[in-house]
Order: sequence, then structure tokens, then C-alpha cells
Amino acid sequence: DDEAEQWRANAADLAALEEAAEMLREGRTVAFPTETVYGLGADARLTEAVEAIFEAKGRPSDNPLIVHIADRALLAELVAEVPEEARALMDAYWPGPLTIVLPVRPGAVSPRVTAGLDTVGIRMPDHPVALALLKAAGCPVAAPSANRSGRPSPTLAAHVLDDLAGRIGGVIDGGASGVGLESTVVQVQQGGRITVLRPGGVTAQQLSAAAGGAPVTGADAAADFTPPDQAEAGGNGPAPRAPGMKYAHYAPRGTLSVVTGSSPERAAKRAAALLAEARARGEVTGLMLFEEHRSLYPDGAASCVVSLGPLASPEQAAHSLYAALREFDEAGAGYILSEACPDTGLGSAIMNRLMKAAAGRVIDAD
Ligand code: TXA
Ligand code: MG
Repeated sequence: DDEAEQWRANAADLAALEEAAEMLREGRTVAFPTETVYGLGADARLTEAVEAIFEAKGRPSDNPLIVHIADRALLAELVAEVPEEARALMDAYWPGPLTIVLPVRPGAVSPRVTAGLDTVGIRMPDHPVALALLKAAGCPVAAPSANRSGRPSPTLAAHVLDDLAGRIGGVIDGGASGVGLESTVVQVQQGGRITVLRPGGVTAQQLSAAAGGAPVTGADAAADFTPPDQAEAGGNGPAPRAPGMKYAHYAPRGTLSVVTGSSPERAAKRAAALLAEARARGEVTGLMLFEEHRSLYPDGAASCVVSLGPLASPEQAAHSLYAALREFDEAGAGYILSEACPDTGLGSAIMNRLMKAAAGRVIDAD
């Protein structure tokens, strides 16, 4: 079958890394580990190779890709200019989970990478395998998350194969991704204005501090949930600058809703009641909770209960969120409820992904 034929290598195998770099140079796709999530890479300069990424993922062609580099020397080839603030952000957070959108140098990458925009997102991942692969390949590597479009991003090589076996050149297995959520994406505009297009582990406060106190604004939150047809219609306000944000993302196969309330007890009580109703309808149910609240639910509150760890440790929730969403799929859960976490710091990135996975569905227990 497809999976048996899939090229799969262990990251410790140096010869395999060289082989993967060769595949990239030949214009093929290779999935590889990064500190955020697994990426599906191809030579960013080769249109056919980049098209193979879109094809494998089933990704809409108007959603641009991030270009990965291991060496800042490549920057000059890729972008027309690097504002002072962008340089400061690179000094502070590269290598690391920060993607910086800058004016693209015409012809530097395939137009399929930028989806026809005059900007390109660039990132230097903080992962030894990713950096070794990028260095060995010697080219800028376009790499979106290595999942089928709309699915949770992969944090294990097994997730990549679940979604893409038979559709890609291969995967390098480097174990679990540490951060677990995708990079923070920022755009640095003329005058040094910094806009967060996608929240991540690097927070707005950290960005502002790193850029010498430059103002940092959030992406237009409304644009995030605007359906494609309305987003295109325009009229009031600019088009969303992170075109990818308008699509359903990260979703498990079942219907997920986020339950909020003025107290954890209230929210849990409502969730438990809804889960019991769903169960009575014959649905396989799922519950995603924070460890501190486990005792607020009756035993067997859902067929599949997944903990994101303690509320006090958002790092743990970020690390395990996507694997948790995939667990519900494995359990065949059709009706899934999740608790919310405070919308600050890393919690903002977690809530951003969770709300997208839930397609904006919120149940207010109050
Ligand atoms: O952590 C990450 O960023 C991972 C790993 C593999 O590096 N990659 C990733 O790529 O999450 P992807 O394609 O799943 O998400 C890229 C995001 C999308 O929301 C896309 O719209 C935005 O970055 N983006 C890319 N280039 C852009 C550009 N020129 N202008 C605005 N947004 C851009
Ligand atoms: Mg993605």
C-alpha cells in the first residue's frame, strides 16, 4: 500500500538527511520536524515543487507559504528590504517560532509561494534537524504545516503520515515538536509598524520590547472569521493580510464547541449536561479539559476525555493541543466540547487555534 512505499527516515540518520536534501534539490517534497510543528518542504524557487505542496495538502492556492532559511545570508536574495525593526526581531527571536513578512524581491521565489502578494513570510526554525536539512539543501525551503488542509497541524511524524502518506516524497522523523503551535506571524511595514497576523508563542509584548518599544497591533480579529466570499467583497477595511486566516483550520472530524462561563464550575456543569444529552442521542462524545477541573465532571462524562495539562502551564496545552484534537478522531468522537483558557500570553495563541478548530462555536454557560 501507499504507506509501505513512503520514504521515512530517522533524524539521527545523517545519510538520510543528505538524501532528504537531495530530494528537495530534485524538486520533490519532504516533511521535516521543526520546533513548532512538522512542515512539508519544497525548494521555494521551483514552481512545480511548490505546486506539489499545494496538491498534497489540498491547500487553496491563494494561501501563501512560509519560506524557511538556516542562514541570514539568504535574506538579501529573498527580500527587497529589511527594516530596522525586523532586524531587531530577528536578533531576538531567530532561530525561533517567529515568521516575519517582508517585501519580496521580485523573482526570488515562485509566485505560488507568495500567492501573488508582493510580500514573503520568512522564518528560521529552531530545530537541529530542520537547520541541518536546510543547510544541506542550500535553498530557501517553502514549508506549510504538513497536514491536509483544514486538519490539525502535525506534531509527530505519524500525524504527517496519517494525513499525507502516498502524497509526499517522504518524512524525517524527529520525534515530537516541542512548542506544538505554529510560529507567530508578523508583518513589519514601512515606518516600523508591527502587526501580528497570527498569534503564537512570541507575544505582542515581547515583540514590542524586542523592537525597541515599536507599536505592535493585532490582526483585525474580525477578518479572522470572515467567510471567504465576504472577505473578498471588501468595502470596509483592508483585505486580511494573512490570507490563510480566513479558512477553517485545525478542525477535528467531529463537531467541536468551546464552553465558557463566569466560573469553571458553571461551565463544567453545562458541558456535562450537554455531553449526557449527546450520549443519549447515540453520539460518541469528547471532552477536552484542564487538569484542575477534572473533578468537576462526573465519571465517564464523555467517551473520550483528553487533558491539556494544568491551566498554570499553557506550554503544556500548546504542546498537546493538536495531538488531543487528533485523539478525538481516533475515538470517532462526533460531539466534542472543550474548556477555554485565559486569553493572555501563550493562552491567546491556544484560544486562537481552539476557536478556529471550533469554527467559532461558543456555548456560554451563563
Ligand atoms: O510554525 C510554522 O509557521 C509552521 C512550520 C512548518 O514552520 N508553518 C506554518 O505554515 O504554519 P502554514 O502554511 O500552515 O501557515 C502559514 C501562515 C498562513 O496563515 C499564511 O497565510 C501566512 O502564514 N503567510 C505566509 N506568507 C504570508 C504573506 N506573505 N503575507 C501574509 N501572510 C502570510
Ligand atoms: Mg497550517
